[in-house]
Amino acid sequence: MKIGMLLSTVSKEQKHLFEAAKQRGITFERLDDRRIIFDLGNGMYDYDVILERCVNHSRSLYALKVLNAHGVNTVNTYDVARICGNKFLTTMALINHNVPTPKARIAFTVESALQAIEDLGYPVVLKPNIGSWGRLITKVNDREAAEAILEHKEILGSFYHSIFYIQEYVEKPNRDIRSFVIDGETICAIYRYSEHWKTNTALGGEATNCPVDGEIGELSERAAEAVGGGILAVDLMETPDGITVNEVNYTMEFRNSSAPTGVDIPGRIVDYLIKVAAS
Ligand SMILES: Nc1ncnc2c1ncn2[C@@H]1O[C@H](COP(=O)(O)OP(=O)(O)O)[C@@H](O)[C@H]1O
Ligand SMILES: [Mg+2]
Repeated sequence: MKIGMLLSTVSKEQKHLFEAAKQRGITFERLDDRRIIFDLGNGMYDYDVILERCVNHSRSLYALKVLNAHGVNTVNTYDVARICGNKFLTTMALINHNVPTPKARIAFTVESALQAIEDLGYPVVLKPNIGSWGRLITKVNDREAAEAILEHKEILGSFYHSIFYIQEYVEKPNRDIRSFVIDGETICAIYRYSEHWKTNTALGGEATNCPVDGEIGELSERAAEAVGGGILAVDLMETPDGITVNEVNYTMEFRNSSAPTGVDIPGRIVDYLIKVAAS
């Protein structure tokens, strides 16, 4: 069985994965995205499966496209990465599958974005379509702030920042929920507590166990299915009207999540890779 890992750096997650593989008598072959060159016409990639662990979304996309085009199994697939790496595409997939998700708007000019914001009502959240770790996720409380941020995005940002993705602000408690779905099953979840409205653990959000009850498990699994399945981390928020799915992540971090949940996340990932490799 030949299992590869496409990676940029050896992070804590990667180390846990190497260890889990070793415990199962397997070694990952490392494909470093800083050195790899894909021969587009003549790719010979005799891997049973490759796990994608790049930091950079564009590198993931190009690499997964080449690998899938040459018939190599990847986790996740190019199609899943393309949807999850883009908040607009994720929202569309969730809506198409009737998964509850906050109201969102897309607009292309400062004027129409301002109109969309006023229609939704303050506060709203502006997000770069592509991004993670809470970076540039902005809560806009009033019209003056909206005008200023839209102007900054248009003038200082690249073309991508003028695709304005606007979401209603959800009055969640001082936490959100991050669940982990592998192969269609919600294996565990954490609450991410923070004093800040952005609860990302990368920004200091604290992880505690979140019991996977019916609603959390079911919604997570439906969200994972909506984007194409595989190994996914789902961001959920509690609202007075029930739980809503914010986004789905395709190269998930899990370093803070095995301890509070007691679930061996890297072990479950490697077990799934073995299953895919054997299929
Ligand atoms: N619409 C919203 N209402 C309230 N909180 C939000 C909203 N969108 C995002 N957040 C908070 O900001 C965090 C980061 O936003 P998210 O959309 O998950 O972007 P990223 O891809 O950077 O993690 C979320 O985990 C959540 O705590
Ligand atoms: Mg997130």
